[in-house]
Amino acid sequence: MALITLRQLLDDAADRNYGVPAFNINNMEQGLAIMKAARSCDAPVILQASRGARSYAGDIMLRHMVEALAEMNPDIPVCLHQDHGNNEATCLSAIRHGFTSVMMDGSLEADMKTPASYDYNVAITARVADAAHAVGASVEGELGVLGSLETGEAAAEDGSGAEGTLSHDQLLTDPDQAVDFVMKTRCDALAIACGTSHGAYKFSRKPDGEILAMSTIEAIHEKLPSTHLVMHGSSSVPQYLQDLINASGGDMPQTWGVPVEEIERGIAMGVRKVNIDTDCRMAMTGQFRKVAMDKPKEFDPRKFLIPAMKELEDLCRDRFERFGTAGNASRIKVIPMDEMAARYASGVLDPRISAAVAA
Ligand code: G3H
Ligand code: 13P
Ligand code: ZN
Repeated sequence: MALITLRQLLDDAADRNYGVPAFNINNMEQGLAIMKAARSCDAPVILQASRGARSYAGDIMLRHMVEALAEMNPDIPVCLHQDHGNNEATCLSAIRHGFTSVMMDGSLEADMKTPASYDYNVAITARVADAAHAVGASVEGELGVLGSLETGEAAAEDGSGAEGTLSHDQLLTDPDQAVDFVMKTRCDALAIACGTSHGAYKFSRKPDGEILAMSTIEAIHEKLPSTHLVMHGSSSVPQYLQDLINASGGDMPQTWGVPVEEIERGIAMGVRKVNIDTDCRMAMTGQFRKVAMDKPKEFDPRKFLIPAMKELEDLCRDRFERFGTAGNASRIKVIPMDEMAARYASGVLDPRISAAVAA
């Protein structure tokens, strides 16, 4: 079965008011668990690979693995998306390797540490959109820099993250600039900054509007009602997984993520793609630790991986159900990439045209 593009999937999500979790993937077990959850509740899937995942598994392995997952689940549309592409080469090589969608993260320079200028971001995102759309692939852009409104810092433990201390102006996407950005780049989805950050240590307390600016999302959606918004750093860092890890020899200091009910509010305000990696990591490693603690004589990796996959499957099913993704997969008929390319060429997918029609 052909993989679906992000644009087609998020257009469907917008028509029916649901959100789609985008789960990071590095290996077969994550893929099997996510797909099992999707199959159990008829949810379409976004699998995303970071640059780190691509070098960990290799492009050939990732491509064949995702194609195998799609073939094993013919009724589930699967989108393969590049997470946080740092330049044109990363994005275009992903498309060459079968990805149907790419994120060009021009909020940072190619080193993924230095906050980029607005003009740099517009120019590189527009160039990637031109090239991707010519072959029917989708593009996610990012405006605003991910990081904590409490500390002004981005998470240090992830592959990408701004260095130094960021101002609130950098950490919160400006709604007027967002309109200009989407019209100039013609990106299919827009990642926004609203106080979330990557990793487990997002908030030092349960977040309120001071440190998780849902009002920013609302203001952007008001100005860009037909743009698909993307929330990065959307792991909820659930207490039960912190407890599982710490009860099994882990040492994670108490922390808070993005409450699922805030994501549900975001979906009502135009958030269509919800990026989740940390929760998946915690689900699997929590079970690894538990098996290692409970059964110190065990050395068969499958005995670690089977409960880890089950924990991940349960987490994914919960997000599919809470975000309204469940129940939508078998209805969607995948549009092939060359047909998507023809639609871009005709202008019907151009945000400047939909904005003119709406006005
Ligand atoms: O963007 C952040 C994701 O959690 C991917 O992380 O670069 O360690 O694979 P990674
Ligand atoms: P988390 O670290 O909150 O899971 O965010 C993942 C992400 O945004 C990947 O792009
Ligand atoms: Zn991210």
